[in-house]
Amino acid sequence: MTQTDRTREHLIETYRKKAKHYDITSRLYPAPGYPQRAQRLRAVQALGLRPGDTVVDMACGTGLNFPLLEKAIGPGGRIVGVDLTDAMLARAGDRIATNGWSNVSLVQADAAGFDFPAGVNAILSTYAMTQVPECAEVIAHGAKALSGGGRWVVLDLKVPGRMPGWLAQLGTAMVRPFAAIDEWIMRRPWEVIRAAMQEELADVSWTELCFGTAFLAAGSRAPV
Ligand SMILES: C[S@@+](CC[C@H](N)C(=O)[O-])C[C@H]1O[C@@H](n2cnc3c(N)ncnc32)[C@H](O)[C@@H]1O
Repeated sequence: MTQTDRTREHLIETYRKKAKHYDITSRLYPAPGYPQRAQRLRAVQALGLRPGDTVVDMACGTGLNFPLLEKAIGPGGRIVGVDLTDAMLARAGDRIATNGWSNVSLVQADAAGFDFPAGVNAILSTYAMTQVPECAEVIAHGAKALSGGGRWVVLDLKVPGRMPGWLAQLGTAMVRPFAAIDEWIMRRPWEVIRAAMQEELADVSWTELCFGTAFLAAGSRAPV
């Protein structure tokens, strides 16, 4: 088994255990009071969605973004939620049924191997892409699938540039249950994501949020 396979197995195991209570426990992620909802709202706004648009929510988890996306695209639009973990998708399925949405489809797949539908208007990924070892390839595949002017938006956590050691240790201790954190810190995936977006997209913006503990990266496919 390669290191990448081990990381993936660890993730699936972790999220199978977390799925049932994820909607509640994630409110404490990465710390109680963290402005996660405001950050999600910002990420969805950065997609620039219009009624009728099709959007891929990559590593959608239990579908916490779906209500915001539904509001933006309306019943004539379409959401494709993709995730690696069956149990997280089962919760997303419950959310879809509870809300009676008929325009959301779910796909169980590894982001690294996902075949993006051609011509999508937007791709979103929240609090997940830094956990994907092949994040640069996923950004590139998604960028190629976007329609002209389509938007790719990634919201995720990062380690702040300047931070006292004790605070960094506290932060990583809090995030530890959610991911293979040591490997994550060493890999510095937010830098990989930033470089990939600059390589693959036009008009790339990079905004650090909440004292550099999160980032919002957005870019567009150049009109064809
Ligand atoms: C912290 S949760 C975030 C879920 C959701 N995006 C949100 O904002 O609540 C991370 C999610 O990423 C998924 N994930 C991790 N690695 C993945 C991969 N390689 N491909 C697809 N999904 C992945 C996990 O199964 C989990 O549901």
